[in-house]
Amino acid sequence: MTSASTPEHGQLAQALADGIVQIREATTSDQLRTVVSALTGKKGPIASIKSSLGKVADIEARKELGQLVNDALAALGVATDGRSRELRAAEFSSQIESERVDMTEVAMSANVERRLGRMHLVTQAMERLEDVFIGLGFQIAEGPEVETDFYNFEALNMPPSHPARSMWDTLFVESDVDGSVVLRTHTSPVQIRVMQDWPPPIYAVMPGRVFRKETPDATHMPVFHQIEGLVIDRGITFADLAGTIESFTKAFFGPGFTSRLRPSYFPFTEPSAEFDIRRHDGTWIELGGCGMVHPHVLRAGGLDPDEWSGFAFGFGIDRMAKERHGINDIRDMYSDDVRFTEQFS
Ligand code: PHE
Repeated sequence: MTSASTPEHGQLAQALADGIVQIREATTSDQLRTVVSALTGKKGPIASIKSSLGKVADIEARKELGQLVNDALAALGVATDGRSRELRAAEFSSQIESERVDMTEVAMSANVERRLGRMHLVTQAMERLEDVFIGLGFQIAEGPEVETDFYNFEALNMPPSHPARSMWDTLFVESDVDGSVVLRTHTSPVQIRVMQDWPPPIYAVMPGRVFRKETPDATHMPVFHQIEGLVIDRGITFADLAGTIESFTKAFFGPGFTSRLRPSYFPFTEPSAEFDIRRHDGTWIELGGCGMVHPHVLRAGGLDPDEWSGFAFGFGIDRMAKERHGINDIRDMYSDDVRFTEQFS
C-alpha cells in the first residue's frame, strides 16, 4: 500500500463517511433509493472522484485510488443492503399492523355483553344419557344414517312387504334398486351391525339421528334422535330388561322416579313392551319400546339363538329433552333463536 495522499483520497474518505451516514439515516425504502442514487449516480461525489482519476499524476497513486473507489462503492452497497432489509422488515410489520382486523374489539369493549354458546338441548341430553349408560357398564356404538333396507327392516324380522314396515313412515334415498336405500327410521339397525361386528357378550348403547316422513308439529319432527340399547349374553331374561330400565330411570331422572312396562308389539322383539316413566306428580311419560331380541334377529346378526339371548330397547331423546325442560313445542328446540336456547344451561 502506498501512503500517497491526494486531495481525491480525502474527498473519497469524506464521501464514503457521509454516504454511510445518509444511508443509515434513511427512514423509508423510497428515501433510501433516492439517497443511494444520489451517492452513486453519475453526478454523485464518487463519480466526480472517478472522473478526476486522470488528473492524478502518480501511476501507483492513481491505481490505488481506483481500487479505493471500488472499495467505497462496495462498502456503500453493503450498507445499503443492510439498511434496506431493516426498512423493509419495519414497513412489512407496520403494513400487517395497519391491515389487521381485530375481531375481538366489539366483544371485549365495555358495555357490550359477552355471549357464550351452549350445547344444544338434545346434545346435552345425549351426552348425559351416554354418561349414565357408561356408568351402568355399557359401551357406545354408532351406525350410518343412510341405511339399506336389509339393516333397517329385513334383518329386524321384517321381510319385504311385512305390514309392520308401515309403523315407520320411511324416507327413501334414490338408488339403483328402487327402495333398497333408506334414511334410517330408527336406531335398531345398529343392533344388527353391532352383533355382526362385536363378539358377544354385548352391552351397548347406540345414539343417533333418525328420519321419518312426518309433518312437523308440537310433538313430531321429521329428523329426531333415538338411543338404542342392546344386551346379548348367556341366559338373559325379561327380568334383566325390566331391572336395567329401572336402574336407568333412577340414574338418569333421579331416585324418586320409577318405570313400568306395558305389553306391545315390535317385529324384532318377542315379547315386546313399551316403557313409561312416572314423574314426581304421578303422571306418566311414554318413553320408548323394548323387548327380548327375536331369534330371527339374533340369526341375522350372526348369533346362535340356542347359545345367546338378549334384550333391546330404544327411545326418543328429543322427547326426553322436551319433557325435562318443560318445553311445549318441540319445534322451538330447532328454531335457532338464541332467546330460546340461552334459557337452558
Ligand atoms: N325401534 C323402535 C322404534 O323406533 C323402538 C324399539 C327398539 C323397540 C328396540 C324395541 C326394541 O319405535
